[in-house]
Amino acid sequence: MSEIKKFPKGFLWGGAVAANQLEGAYKEDGKGLSTADVSPKGIMSPPDFSMKDFNLYHEGIDFYHTYKEDIALFAEMGFKSFRFSIAWTRIFPNGDEQTPNEQGLEFYEKVIDELVKYNIEPVITISHYEMPLALVKNYGGWKSRKLVAFYENYAKTLFTRFHKKVKYWMTFNEINVVMHAPFTGGGLLFEEGEKNDQDIYQSAHHQFVASALAVKVGHEINPDLQIGCMIASMLTYPYSSKPEDMLAAVMQDRKTLFFSDVQARGYYPSYMRNYLEENDINIVMEDGDLEILQENTVDYIGFSYYMSFVASTDPEHLKAQTSGNLLAGVKNPHLKASEWGWQIDPVGLRTVSNQLYDRYQKPLFIVENGLGAVDKVEDDGSVNDDHRIDYLRAHIQEMKKAIADGVDIIGYTSWGPIDLVSASTAELKKRYGYIYVDRDSKGQGSNKRIKKKSFNWYKNVIATNGEEL
Ligand code: BG6
Repeated sequence: MSEIKKFPKGFLWGGAVAANQLEGAYKEDGKGLSTADVSPKGIMSPPDFSMKDFNLYHEGIDFYHTYKEDIALFAEMGFKSFRFSIAWTRIFPNGDEQTPNEQGLEFYEKVIDELVKYNIEPVITISHYEMPLALVKNYGGWKSRKLVAFYENYAKTLFTRFHKKVKYWMTFNEINVVMHAPFTGGGLLFEEGEKNDQDIYQSAHHQFVASALAVKVGHEINPDLQIGCMIASMLTYPYSSKPEDMLAAVMQDRKTLFFSDVQARGYYPSYMRNYLEENDINIVMEDGDLEILQENTVDYIGFSYYMSFVASTDPEHLKAQTSGNLLAGVKNPHLKASEWGWQIDPVGLRTVSNQLYDRYQKPLFIVENGLGAVDKVEDDGSVNDDHRIDYLRAHIQEMKKAIADGVDIIGYTSWGPIDLVSASTAELKKRYGYIYVDRDSKGQGSNKRIKKKSFNWYKNVIATNGEEL
């Protein structure tokens, strides 16, 4: 096989997790409460400030205490990289302090050192689906301009402390989530069923500026740092070849691409400026904001890919809906879906990789992909997750084809290499891992780790640099 069709040397194979979905220890060592700590039903349901209900995020899979054993398992699989997030509330419990909590920094220092010990490249998401609850209560979340400075201080603290050991960073996980889950994405509270676009776009603007300032300060501290954006990719197909369906797909795609457009190109695209004007949405900007965005674009495009979406103008098609990542949508008759209704589309990964690379000409990092499924421990203790292997194999094959198309992809971190609490539904029934965790959605179980069949499969994928799938 020609070199061009192979994964590049140094390709960053690995896995990705988020602090609030696996660490547990939600009140330990000075950690403050986050939005996840009051979201017992997951990010698509309203928060519960009473905190009366059981919340699986509070316990996660106890990674806070088991990180050494868990990282040893990742090392056994041969991980080249590990993407994890830092809980803002471990570093700044209320978000607006000036001085960080040393115990929080020490925890992540230990995690990083453990990874470095095994030559695993740490990849850090600065903010993944959680923010200090105090910033919601005292400032109204990201609609307040004040959060820009708080975030900048937080990011600067992390870069200063870890820049010698950590090269790859991402500013906000799935920054477009603010459109779909405004509480998780922006700390915004609305009445059920209502969404205030003014607040949503204002919050997005503040996050863009905060992200750009983080890129600026990160590069000032260490010019070698690679700081990326991260979007939930939502590739949209026209339901039919009807011109109106194609147009609807383009329009739907823009709702996602707007976020990477601003972060990668450095300006608000004309289609969005027009949309805001037509809808009387007036984003308040400070002098210098547009220059900050322009001068501090991201180094690479990080994105998650689980499924594709469909746009249609036919009311009949609109009736057949399926659930999905952050967004329900029109059912695609050509695709099968996961047990949670997410439509499985490996070819879409190749298409979206080409789309993003054509658009930005910046390296891509596929930082999430995977199959959420129910896994069963057999009587002999094995977990035969062939369904997961099939899903991942098909997606990795398409990623390989995208590289052969000419797309520059620097790495692939599949989601949840160890089972963790799901984001949309806060359960452990839905599993993504190569490593099974004996804990159920009620938090019951021994917490023991068991290697699934996919463990050795992925180990071999990495060992052969994607040649044996
Ligand atoms: C992504 C998020 O959207 O999807 C992750 O970045 C999340 O945090 C993942 O876990 C899978 O979603 P879910 O709802 O199955 O956990």
